Amino acid sequence: MEKTSHLGMNRTGVDMSPMHSKAMLEGAERVPGDVEANQMLATRRQEMIMEAGTIGSVPMPGTLKGALSSVMKKATGKSPETFINKLGERLAFERMGVRLYEALITKCETLANQQVGAVFTIDDLRRIRADEARHFQLVHDAITSIGADPTAQTPDADVSAVLSSGVLKVITDIRTTVPQSLEAILTAELADTAAWELLVQMAEAMGMSDMAASFREALEQEERHILQVKQWYTQLMTFEAGGKTTRH
Ligand SMILES: [Fe+2]
Repeated sequence: MEKTSHLGMNRTGVDMSPMHSKAMLEGAERVPGDVEANQMLATRRQEMIMEAGTIGSVPMPGTLKGALSSVMKKATGKSPETFINKLGERLAFERMGVRLYEALITKCETLANQQVGAVFTIDDLRRIRADEARHFQLVHDAITSIGADPTAQTPDADVSAVLSSGVLKVITDIRTTVPQSLEAILTAELADTAAWELLVQMAEAMGMSDMAASFREALEQEERHILQVKQWYTQLMTFEAGGKTTRH
């Protein structure tokens, strides 16, 4: 496996050319930052925020109306679409989670060496991928159980897809190392765990105790994912930095 940090011909820092960096500093002093232009940009952005609508909407299919009155409205009294929005987000994110682990598995199968093998195995990754796929199914079933449409992309599903697109880019970049990909996955797992905490609370607040219990199970699995990924990442980086690594 290629090291994440190796010495090379990096020319991005000022130390590479003291003469040019001195000229650059002189130039920066001569031409001060354009505060006025920055303020104009901020003002224009404010105007555009005021003019813009929101991202998408939560659909109301025919079957939803009946189900809402019997199941959800009784529990919530109002705004079941908020819950549907967040369920839609979780559905999209868990599907993305499966893809992230697929990509990580491909990377590890290609780059893994003894060092990685001493820390975690492809089967460890496959187990987490299977958890994510089960969570997808769990959310799918929760959405259909309240009469909503799991194929609809909700506003927060859209936003979370944009959020996690950076993670996907890092992992599918053919040049990134296993530790760099693990760091990306860690970002996704941290977001995932916080989101499940919210879903558990929302389900509980609506008196949907069976759903809350199944969500809590998923949350506990996500918490284990964080611990594992963080440990693997830490061990690989410690090893690379010259420390010892041991499998726990
Ligand atoms: Fe996870």
